[in-house]
Amino acid sequence: MGWYSSKYAKNVAVIGIIIYILDYFGIFKHYHELDFQRHFDYPSGRPSDYDYTLIKNASEVCEVSPRLAIIVKSALQNINRRNVIRRTWGYDRRFSDVQIRRVFLLGVSDDPKTDYIVREESSKFKDIVQIDFVDTYFNNTIKTLMGMQWALKYCNSEYFFFVDDDYYVSTKNLLKFANNPSFYPKSRQNIAAQEHEDSDLFAGFVLQTPPHRHKFSKWYIPLSEYPFDLWPPYITAGAFVLNRNALLKLFTAAINIKKFRFDDIFLGIAALKANLTLTHCEMFYFNKPKYEGPSSYQNIVASHGFQNSKELEQIWNECRSAGYA
Ligand SMILES: *[C@@H]1O[C@H](CO)[C@@H](O)[C@H](O)[C@H]1NC(C)=O
Ligand SMILES: *[C@@H]1O[C@H](CO)[C@@H](O)[C@H](O)[C@H]1NC(C)=O
Ligand SMILES: *[C@@H]1O[C@H](CO)[C@@H](O)[C@H](O)[C@H]1NC(C)=O
Repeated sequence: MGWYSSKYAKNVAVIGIIIYILDYFGIFKHYHELDFQRHFDYPSGRPSDYDYTLIKNASEVCEVSPRLAIIVKSALQNINRRNVIRRTWGYDRRFSDVQIRRVFLLGVSDDPKTDYIVREESSKFKDIVQIDFVDTYFNNTIKTLMGMQWALKYCNSEYFFFVDDDYYVSTKNLLKFANNPSFYPKSRQNIAAQEHEDSDLFAGFVLQTPPHRHKFSKWYIPLSEYPFDLWPPYITAGAFVLNRNALLKLFTAAINIKKFRFDDIFLGIAALKANLTLTHCEMFYFNKPKYEGPSSYQNIVASHGFQNSKELEQIWNECRSAGYA
């Protein structure tokens, strides 16, 4: 009897551990998810939740209405990356016939030294938009939204490109893509560009994935916060481009829904609420393609994975010399 019950207890313990592990990996949560297609709904929010003050407004940047505004989401300490971006894909005197402008979005730090450096940088380059919020990864939604608000208020550009500071960008390809998104990278001669003049453009790498339900994930999300089996279609937040019409619609929808910490998902939900179509382009990369000389990057619009700014500068310069950037 004693032998039997200890074996029994052991079995119960093993089953318990298995259940615990399965739960940890989110297996049971999947059974409780709701079908996205049939049930999707999302709570509204208050625009006042997004009232952050602009400490620096870079109001001179768009004194002339540009064709393209490049809005770089940067982190305070990444001054080297910003300097390389200023002389590569963010260089604003790049083309004689197309006006482009660039700004960097930053939050605040409580370190006086960082604060001092950013102030110096801002007075030198006048391209810093600084917002009064604590700059952390999970505050990226605030950064993106405040960047949109800045763009609508201070920059009458035709296209707006939102991008992280660890990207390679071909400004040339980006302009080509924006002018003719459905045909890129093929160019259509003889047909007037501007097909998108009256319609909306919100484009980048589009995907639709299920939420992470295992608890150790950086992207873990409880059912109570999001009960559906799929995210809405969304664009990788590291790089996306909009025209002014789409930006206004997206921003208006976004400030009227509940805040969500993943900025790409948040914008996906906002786009759904605003009935905006997402335009997918394979030439926006999340995983950096292997660089095998400029021709391997010929059609790339943007690629994540350039934390190393020396590497970015070298590759970008080679691609520019070859006419691909
Ligand atoms: C932008 O910032 C400058 C300098 O702080 C300030 O003088 C100006 O009034 C601000 N512009 C707007 C429109 O808020
Ligand atoms: C986000 O910023 C707000 C405002 O500065 C701050 O109160 C909050 O702690 C920050 N959140 C995170 C997760 O850092
Ligand atoms: C989006 O489309 C739906 C259904 O066609 C409509 O009910 C809703 O009002 C539209 N929303 C916006 C913001 O246009």
